[in-house]
Amino acid sequence: MILILLGAPGAGKGTQAQRLQDKHGIVQLSTGDMLRAAVKAGTEIGLKAKAVMERGELVSDDIMTGIISDRLDQPDCEKGAILDGFPRTEAQAEALDKMLAEKNLSLNVVIEMKTDDEVLVERITGRYTCANCGAGYHDTFLKPAKEGVCDKCGGTEFSRRSDDKAETVKSRLEAYHKQTAPLLPYYREKGILKQVDGMAEIDEVTRQIEGVISSI
Ligand code: AP5
Ligand code: MG
Ligand code: ZN
Repeated sequence: MILILLGAPGAGKGTQAQRLQDKHGIVQLSTGDMLRAAVKAGTEIGLKAKAVMERGELVSDDIMTGIISDRLDQPDCEKGAILDGFPRTEAQAEALDKMLAEKNLSLNVVIEMKTDDEVLVERITGRYTCANCGAGYHDTFLKPAKEGVCDKCGGTEFSRRSDDKAETVKSRLEAYHKQTAPLLPYYREKGILKQVDGMAEIDEVTRQIEGVISSI
């Protein structure tokens, strides 16, 4: 199964993708995480992406399409993939259709996580992740059971993203509305767009996504 989680920055794509990966064994492909890893490793793509990401703008379509195409060829994608943060422009959506056809794969569903912009700044500025395993948390909305200790791996080091500042969030939201939101009618016309309420509590959003998946 190939599914896309589509939503604004902070809508909860990563949080829900991790849960789907744990439950169904379909791999989460987060283009944001891949770019952050490339920046950290100092690769050519990382060097190109760093400044763009810190401005809250989008990295070029060619780079992103190449990354996803290579990633889909890896053996861990055999059971399927959850696309988290890709596609983000109409050019990426068209390139995805083409590459899936070439790979004999098909896109099963696009799940829109609907949110109001007002809640997103608080979600993003309160976010942190386990430095060891990448599990995501929030200062208010999703604390580990024991403060300072990761639920998943017991790690005690956490990190925050350098693009999670309130000023950068504004540019990221603008990029979403201008460049990514037009994908909603694109997928609606194909008849594969479903919606969940991204404003609901995290567990409720998971229930709604599970409902969508079991209906396809
Ligand atoms: P990316 O990493 O994809 O960032 P984003 O789209 O801005 O989305 P986020 O990761 O911020 O949010 P999320 O929806 O995953 O929310 P989360 O689950 O963490 O991209 C970063 C950058 O990389 C881009 O700006 C761009 O430069 C570049 N890039 C990436 N892909 C690209 C592409 N395809 N093309 C071009 N450039 C690309 O949740 C947020 C917080 O809220 C968490 O703390 C969580 O615990 C909490 N939370 C989650 N759900 C709820 C809920 N229902 N209620 C309360 N709190 C919640
Ligand atoms: Mg994310
Ligand atoms: Zn951890």
